[in-house]
Amino acid sequence: MSSSFLHPFTPPRKTEFLSIVRGEGALVFDEEGNDYIDGMASLWYVNVGHGREDVAEAIAAQAKQLAAYHTFDPFTNPPAEELAAKIAALSPFEHPRVFFGSSGSEAVDTAMKIARIAHREAGRPERQIIVSRERGYHGTNYGGTSIQGIAPNREGFGPLVPGVVNVAADDDEAMKRVFAEHGDEIAAVITEPVQGASGVWPAHDGYLSHLRDLCDTYGAYLIFDEVITAFGRLGEWFGSQFYGVTPDIITFAKAVTSGYVPLSGVILGESAMAGLEANEGFVLRTGYTYSAHPVACVAGLKCIEIQEEEGLLARATAIGERLGAGLRALQDEGLLIDVRGEGAIWGVSVPAEVDVVATRNAILEEGVIVRPVPLNHLAMCPPLVITDEQIDKIVSSIRKVLTAG
Ligand SMILES: Cc1ncc(COP(=O)(O)O)c(C=O)c1O
Repeated sequence: MSSSFLHPFTPPRKTEFLSIVRGEGALVFDEEGNDYIDGMASLWYVNVGHGREDVAEAIAAQAKQLAAYHTFDPFTNPPAEELAAKIAALSPFEHPRVFFGSSGSEAVDTAMKIARIAHREAGRPERQIIVSRERGYHGTNYGGTSIQGIAPNREGFGPLVPGVVNVAADDDEAMKRVFAEHGDEIAAVITEPVQGASGVWPAHDGYLSHLRDLCDTYGAYLIFDEVITAFGRLGEWFGSQFYGVTPDIITFAKAVTSGYVPLSGVILGESAMAGLEANEGFVLRTGYTYSAHPVACVAGLKCIEIQEEEGLLARATAIGERLGAGLRALQDEGLLIDVRGEGAIWGVSVPAEVDVVATRNAILEEGVIVRPVPLNHLAMCPPLVITDEQIDKIVSSIRKVLTAG
């Protein structure tokens, strides 16, 4: 079969793919009508579930009224204003401002740029360094690529953005040393509260508050990349609230619209805004054609309303309890060597001799989608509308495949 479509994160010679044609709740269907439990909420984002008419209708109504209009000075639109106010109210900040983009990668690049320029505007132009963690995934634009903690994703793309220090993922002492050495030059530390794409690694106890303390002591911004954790995944609106640590800047994307229309953003707390607003006449020269796209913002408003009305944040916690217990039972049976997770995001490690891609394929044959993460991890992040029976089937399918091993 030939295909004109060059797929992301895929060997370019590959042309055979599984075509997904329909979705409903926690299920997706291929072109032959086979159903699969979407144990990954697509790619960590369909919190409200697939195939929702209420979201589709809200999108259609806005597209008929005003499909798109840009928001560069002097323009705005009502869905953008309403969604920014709603996100501000849900956020851990008192009086934040919300910047919009379309992808998580755009949000990350914007947060990096804003961290640097906010320091400059506040009279601290020497603060240029962005500190990130090994295992971190922050998207694939050049900013996100440069701060990636997953080395293969950085390699071969030529010179990257300078001024980045990547630190061992769980090492409080190593982070302390970076601050001791470069404290006056650090613009920001960026981290996911739960590192997702590298295999689901929740921050260890006290890790995030230690980062907060270091940033306070040395005057750096703390950025939480909440592209996966924001909008309910951990049972709170933001991972910040789950961990009880407030950063200066939060990036979000994915679940804000459950992916029905791409939308991302950056929430700027008072400390970052103080820099941006320090000087009369300063213009924030960054943004996108589709920043605050009204159709995307309406999808965001609708998805937040659904999460509120259907109690999906509480459901994330319940999903995590059931899925976590099921996976730990597999570990007790000797099929897994590690189980990690918080809320409704879980990762497991299989013994080194088990091929995770082959395992994913065999689990797919059972009608369940999980995500293989090299070298030996499987990730799960189901829609928050998944049923208990569907959760149990994820666990039983993994058991069946690993037992058959
Ligand atoms: C934490 C985090 N940041 C950034 C991104 C990049 O988002 P996108 O793929 O929408 O550009 C991702 C994507 O998975 C992510 O998990």
